[in-house]
Amino acid sequence: MRKMVAGNWKMNGLQVSLKNIAELATAHDSARVDIMICPPATLLSKACEIARSLKIGAQDCHSAEHGAHTGDISANMIADCGAKAVILGHSERRANHNESDAIVRDKTSAAQSAGLTAVVCIGETLEQREAGETIAVLETQLKASIPDKVDPSRMVVAYEPVWAIGTGKIPTLEQITEAHQFCRRTLLKRFGSAANNVPLLYGGSVKASNAEEIFSLQNVDGALVGGASLAPVDFSPIIHALEATV
Ligand code: PGA
Repeated sequence: MRKMVAGNWKMNGLQVSLKNIAELATAHDSARVDIMICPPATLLSKACEIARSLKIGAQDCHSAEHGAHTGDISANMIADCGAKAVILGHSERRANHNESDAIVRDKTSAAQSAGLTAVVCIGETLEQREAGETIAVLETQLKASIPDKVDPSRMVVAYEPVWAIGTGKIPTLEQITEAHQFCRRTLLKRFGSAANNVPLLYGGSVKASNAEEIFSLQNVDGALVGGASLAPVDFSPIIHALEATV
């Protein structure tokens, strides 16, 4: 499996920020890992034009192919821009837009039908971790956010503890290992050996200073990076840290 570093720009980035994508594309033209940038939808088309070997992804899509859904974009529209993937079920979408597992599952189906790779995010809140519910939460989310009819070769799972996103806090290495091992086993049980090729990304306060130890863990195949993906000076060392493992 190709390992992956994905950058989630969230609601950041104007036309002027495209130069960061161009800079990354030049600096990492022959990278040994997949590099993906997920800019806001307003930059998707132009980002795809300058991406070279970088992959460009969106941050959400609607589950319908088209129709009366003001403000939404469909998976087909994302593919039409030239993007290859879409992040689905990010905890900010789940919390701010009431996205249930069932909604994420339908979006995942729509994304794959449009030929996109679905990057499905799961992760527990602090309350759930403190209540000892982490594994149960991951089990439910994995089961209900991923449809039965999924193509594992166009599937990525990102484990992102909600309490680690944008906070500078990360779980212990043991906690990350436990979560990733659980995800791998669960996917293997459900989808068979093809699940060995589903990249499992860790997300939540990944930066240059902690990337190396996180990437050394078993079943951690890369990272989904928020804040540290905005500037190449922060993102490039994370890419190098993952490349050092392959
Ligand atoms: P962060 O965000 O790296 O800024 O913590 C990660 C994410 O939300 O994907």
